[in-house]
Amino acid sequence: MTLSPCYRPLPNLHLHQLPLYPTPLETEVVRGLSARQKTLPAKLFYDDTGSWLFEVITTLPEYYLPRAEREIFQHQGHEIWPHLHAGAVLVEPGSGSCGKIQPLLENTAPRAYVPIEISGDHLWSAANSLAARYPWLSIHAVCADFTQPLELPAAVPEAVRTVFFPGSTIGNFPPGEALKLLGNLRQLLGPGGQLLLGVDTHKSRATLEAAYNDSRGVTAAFNKNMLRHINRALGMDFNLEQFAHLAFYNEREKRIEMHLRSLRTQTVHLGEHRFTLARGETLHTENSYKYRPKEFAALASRAGFLWQHCWQDPQRAFSVHLLSA
Ligand code: AVJ
Repeated sequence: MTLSPCYRPLPNLHLHQLPLYPTPLETEVVRGLSARQKTLPAKLFYDDTGSWLFEVITTLPEYYLPRAEREIFQHQGHEIWPHLHAGAVLVEPGSGSCGKIQPLLENTAPRAYVPIEISGDHLWSAANSLAARYPWLSIHAVCADFTQPLELPAAVPEAVRTVFFPGSTIGNFPPGEALKLLGNLRQLLGPGGQLLLGVDTHKSRATLEAAYNDSRGVTAAFNKNMLRHINRALGMDFNLEQFAHLAFYNEREKRIEMHLRSLRTQTVHLGEHRFTLARGETLHTENSYKYRPKEFAALASRAGFLWQHCWQDPQRAFSVHLLSA
C-alpha cells in the first residue's frame, strides 16, 4: 500500500515522533462505545490503508472539495500570497501525502516546513519525496496527534509561524471542539502568526450527500476500514461484513454525518468490555461541518483570531480563510 520509505537521511529532512494518544486510545474507544449514540473518533480512519483510501477519495468526481480548493489557490493565489509572511515556519497539521503544500512552498519561501501527521509511514514517505524535490527546504516531519495540544520539537527554527490547515479538516470537529483546536493552534502560532485554512461551505443536499456516497464505494470502504484499524490496534473483533456505510446531511446541525449501521444484533469485545449493537443501531464515525464564510469568521474571532480574508471559487463550493493570531 504505502511504499516503504527510504530511511537514508536526506540532509534537509528531520523526523520526530511525539508520543501518540496521551489519552489512551482504549479509553477513548471505551468512552465512545459506552455512549447512547455510539461514536468512534474520526482520526481512527487514518491508518496506512485509510490514508491511502482517503487519497483515492480526493480523486473521485463526486468529492468536489479538493478540486474547489485547488482552484482557489490556482486562480486566486496571486491575491493570497502577498498576505502571507515570507520566511515563516510553515506548519501543516494532518499533512497526509503533503500534496497541497507545493504552491505555498513555491510562493512564500518558508524558512522550514513542519508536516504533522498521525499516520507515520505515510508521513515519512511523503516528507522524503518532498525533501528530495526541494533540497533548499528544511523539513521537520512530526508524527503526532494534532487534536492534542502540542509543541514543536526544539530543533525547529525560530521564526514567525504560519499554520496551513487545508481540506476542511476543521469541519471534523463540532463547534466546541473546533474552538478548542483553533485555540491550540493560536498557542502554537504565537502573536503575529497566521492561519490559512480551507473550509467547506453549505450547498444543496444532493451535492453534499453525493460527495460522501460515491458511486464506486470508496467512501464506504474508507468508513469500514476504521473497524479494521481498531481491530488491529486494540485487538477488537468487529466483523466488517456486518456493517453498512451510511452518510447523510444533517440540516439542523449543518453537517454531514457518517455512520456504520449494524446489519444485525451483535456483540463486540474490548478486553473485559462487551458492547452490544442492536440491528440497525449505528456507530457514528465522522462529522463534517459546513460553514458559510460569515459563520466561520464568527467562530474564528470567538477563538481569539483576527479574521483577515476569505477567498472562494466561482461556484462558492469552498472557502479559504486567512486569520491572524
Ligand atoms: C478530510 C476530514 C475533510 O470530512 O470531507 C472524506 C474526510 N470523509 N470523505 C471530509 C472524508 C469522507 C474529509 N476531511
